[in-house]
Amino acid sequence: MKNILIINGPNLNLLGNREKGIYGEFTLQNIEELCEQQCTKNKIKCLFFQSNYEGELIEKIHSVESEFDGIIINPAAFTHTSIALLDALKAISKPKIEVHISNIYAREDFRRKSITSEAVNGLICGFGEKGYILAIDAMTNLIYNK
Ligand code: DQA
Repeated sequence: MKNILIINGPNLNLLGNREKGIYGEFTLQNIEELCEQQCTKNKIKCLFFQSNYEGELIEKIHSVESEFDGIIINPAAFTHTSIALLDALKAISKPKIEVHISNIYAREDFRRKSITSEAVNGLICGFGEKGYILAIDAMTNLIYNK
């Protein structure tokens, strides 16, 4: 069975309490449960990983090449700062999708630039927690239509 990695970056462990007006009421656990259901529906397996540390995220991305069929990542604030995460993603040949809960292009100027998106197949943002579900459907297509 195909196996994907779903990574969430810094501060996303605080979802449900953090800036609810922007990110909504869903906790990360709620989102992971939704993702699990969608993956089961699409007949793929998924593993979740969240870290507030750039190096841990990078090392997890490295594991994708040998252990997973694709990666869905919300790099959170590292989206706008991290060339190291961009390079890690560029090193992966498997399908890659970037997700943001909020519409990063409708917020502060510094959020309008995604450094990491240069390395991914596509980006989904602005659909709240449903963005992860859309990403799982897009990933399922990428994996099976290769
Ligand atoms: C975010 C958007 C980022 O700008 C922000 O730093 C986050 C969350 C999102 O999912 O909307 O932490 O990635």
